[in-house]
Amino acid sequence: MPRKTEIKDYIRTIVDFPHEGIMFRDVTTLFADPRGFRMAVDQLLHPYAGVRFDKVVGLEARGFILGGAVAHQLSAGFVPIRKKGKLPGAVISEDYQLEYGEAVVEIHDDAIEAGEKVLLVDDLLATGGTAEAGIKLVERLGGEIIGCAFVIDLPDLGGRKRLEAMDMDVHTLCT
Ligand code: PRP
Ligand code: ADE
Repeated sequence: MPRKTEIKDYIRTIVDFPHEGIMFRDVTTLFADPRGFRMAVDQLLHPYAGVRFDKVVGLEARGFILGGAVAHQLSAGFVPIRKKGKLPGAVISEDYQLEYGEAVVEIHDDAIEAGEKVLLVDDLLATGGTAEAGIKLVERLGGEIIGCAFVIDLPDLGGRKRLEAMDMDVHTLCT
C-alpha cells in the first residue's frame, strides 16, 4: 500500500451507508491512525495561530472527537452541540435538514457567554445544515464565531457557500 501523505489518504468511503446512494466518508480510519489524527488536528488549527478562543464548539458526534483535541491545543473550553434530548440541562434548539433526513440540535443555554470567541468544529461539511444550526445556536447565546473548521468539504452539496453567505470564515482540509 502506498505511504499515506495527505489527510484524504486516511479517510475511507463506505458506499450506500446509511442509505442507498450515499457515499459515506468515514473518518474513523483517520482518527485511528496516530499520524493521521495529529495531522488533522494540527491542520484544523493552522489558520488560527495566535488567535485567542474562549470556546470550541463541537457538533455531535464526530465533531466531539476533533473539537476536544482542538480545544485542548487552544487551551479553550469545549462545548457540545447535541442531537435533541441528550443534554441534561436547560437548552435552546434549532431544526435543520440533513443530506439524508432532518434533525434538531441543542446547546446548553449557559454554555457560552455573550462576547465569547468561538471556533466551530466538525468532521464534514455537506449541505451545511448542521453547521448553520450550530452557528445559530452559538449566536443566539451571544457568542462570536471566529471560524468554522472541518476536515472534509463536499463542495457539490453547497455547505461552504451557504456558510460564506452567512459571513462565516470556513476552513476545510480536503474535498
Ligand atoms: C454528519 C457530519 C456533520 C453533518 C454534515 O453528521 O458529521 O455533522 O452530517 O452534514 P450537513 O452539512 O449536510 O448538515 P451526522 O448527522 O451523520 O451525525 P453523527 O456524527 O452523529 O453520525
Ligand atoms: N454527513 C452528511 N453526508 C455525509 C457523507 N457523505 N459522509 C459522511 N458523513 C456525512
